[in-house]
Amino acid sequence: MYYKEIPYKLACIEGKTTTDLYFKVRDAYRLFAAEGATLTEDQRLLGRNQPLFIQCEDHSSAERDLGDHILRVLTDSSVAAKVRADLVYSLSMRSMRKVFQGTNTRTIQDLRKISNSVVRSILKEKDIVGHVMEMTSIDHYILQHSVKAGTFGLALTINMFGDRLDDHDLADLCTAFFLHDVGMTKVPRSVVDKEGPLTLSEWDVIRNHPLWGHDKLSKITTLTEGAASIVLYHHERCNGSGYPFKKTGGEIPIYAKICAIADTFESLTAKRPFRPSKTPFEALKIMQREMADEFDPGLFQAFVMLLGSG
Ligand SMILES: [Fe+2]
Ligand SMILES: [Fe+2]
Repeated sequence: MYYKEIPYKLACIEGKTTTDLYFKVRDAYRLFAAEGATLTEDQRLLGRNQPLFIQCEDHSSAERDLGDHILRVLTDSSVAAKVRADLVYSLSMRSMRKVFQGTNTRTIQDLRKISNSVVRSILKEKDIVGHVMEMTSIDHYILQHSVKAGTFGLALTINMFGDRLDDHDLADLCTAFFLHDVGMTKVPRSVVDKEGPLTLSEWDVIRNHPLWGHDKLSKITTLTEGAASIVLYHHERCNGSGYPFKKTGGEIPIYAKICAIADTFESLTAKRPFRPSKTPFEALKIMQREMADEFDPGLFQAFVMLLGSG
């Protein structure tokens, strides 16, 4: 038998265990609580402060077993949408944190697995997107931004192609939406975290992040055309004012146009310590009045409808 660690949030939902849970005593694993058990206050405290494990057939099946469990919980309609959104957010955040700490085949593969579960949960319950918007954590703002903008990008893709979803590799696209800013890991921290306005030369550095991100991912994994376009072209704008290539409307792939909308909306609504955030309504108004010719009108309209229906 092999034991795989499981995050507490996933192991226990609203006080109840979602599977058989084990904990480690010296070198042995003991049953902590059986599936469906209601934990006492003391057990909850203990569970939060020590690693919990699930039992797996062997080492090679552990990742798959945990992945299957994540998928089961994220698509379980008896779990409230808000709780599932919390899980979507925290599991994606956990995986993204690992990618930002070390972008390699393994961390990207893990993110792809989480993305697959995120896709399935949103396909089943649209309300999850609205709840993800409200989530916050103590993680670096770029990570929070990546997960939220990624979720919005995925939701808009699902909304646009609802009737022919089989033509689109949603898990792959979701991974790329999450990773659209991975090139920012190459930008010096002093520039990323600068609270005042950036100098022209600092902007020049920032403007490289789509190329750096694309380059980084291409070396590690085989990107599909759609995924690559998200990372490389998400700062291009329909009126040609974007970067790095100053492409215009017809030259920009659709997924990159979707990412541009999700990315801008998230940036405007994000809570940052040194500037006030906009409400979703204010953000959409700004995008409509001041940036209208930057975005694809059909996609923008669909995004407004998507948020309005939540
Ligand atoms: Fe970006
Ligand atoms: Fe972004």
